[in-house]
Amino acid sequence: MAKWALVTGATSGIGWATTEALAAQGFSIFITGRRADRLEELSSLLRNKFPQVQIKSAAFDISDRFEVSEFMKAHYGELAHIDVLVNNAGLACGTEKVQDASLDDWETMIDTNVKGLLFVTRGVIEHMVRKNSGHIVNLGSVAGRWTYPGGAVYCATKFAVRALSEGMRMDLLGTKIRVTNIEPGMVNTEFSFVRLKDQVKADKVYEGMTPLSAQDIAETIAWCVNRPAHVNIQELVIYPTDQAHVGQVSRTL
Ligand SMILES: NC(=O)c1ccc[n+]([C@@H]2O[C@H](COP(=O)([O-])OP(=O)(O)OC[C@H]3O[C@@H](n4cnc5c(N)ncnc54)[C@H](OP(=O)(O)O)[C@@H]3O)[C@@H](O)[C@H]2O)c1
Repeated sequence: MAKWALVTGATSGIGWATTEALAAQGFSIFITGRRADRLEELSSLLRNKFPQVQIKSAAFDISDRFEVSEFMKAHYGELAHIDVLVNNAGLACGTEKVQDASLDDWETMIDTNVKGLLFVTRGVIEHMVRKNSGHIVNLGSVAGRWTYPGGAVYCATKFAVRALSEGMRMDLLGTKIRVTNIEPGMVNTEFSFVRLKDQVKADKVYEGMTPLSAQDIAETIAWCVNRPAHVNIQELVIYPTDQAHVGQVSRTL
């Protein structure tokens, strides 16, 4: 029987690339995100490229508890077949200092990166526990290990993702369910445009250095998922060679 993965935030960046990488390995995929047109585009690309895999999609906002619960109810039977959940959807908003930042930005980050991840996980995990199998891959960040100026709340949400990954592993101990926290450094996706709301400023983030690509992270996720069932890659920190630490980047300008 085909293996199924559910990928949140598949409309762009790491989520899009992970969907392609898992489909290439024969996974059928349930893709989600808010932008329905992007889901449509990715679905038809995958159907052309991988005709043997099944693709389902649903557009909803993971930060909205009602929308997540409607999704869970509408697809209850299909979610029972999910083998791999990739909790990828997430974002950073702004780089202002705590004393200057917008409450709306804080709420968006906390609601999406922490509460949204939890809402989706809660709906899928009960099926995994019943089957006594499954793999949850969370997208943490190096920002979930080290804080940087102007990033306090984004970092706090990714520290939370690390804590949640650890806590899930403890609560699931005794089952055959694996939990992996992937912690990338700089990856060139739509992330910086979403954060800075300006393409020129977003491009400057990666100026004179070679960041990771979404495909680099997607291949890593696909590798973790394909380890033998008794092997759980718990955490992976992945930096580009041009980045030694958060805020420490080598540039050729
Ligand atoms: N890029 C980096 O440098 C980097 C480094 C470390 C960790 N990460 C993490 O990697 C993950 C993916 O980011 P990315 O770099 O691929 O950024 P991206 O290209 O901006 O993709 C983010 C994805 O999240 C989805 N999303 C955002 N808010 C959502 C919501 N409320 N409901 C449903 N989906 C939502 C977006 O879809 P819609 O807009 O269609 O909803 C989009 O598909 C994030 O968790 C991010 O924090 C990124």
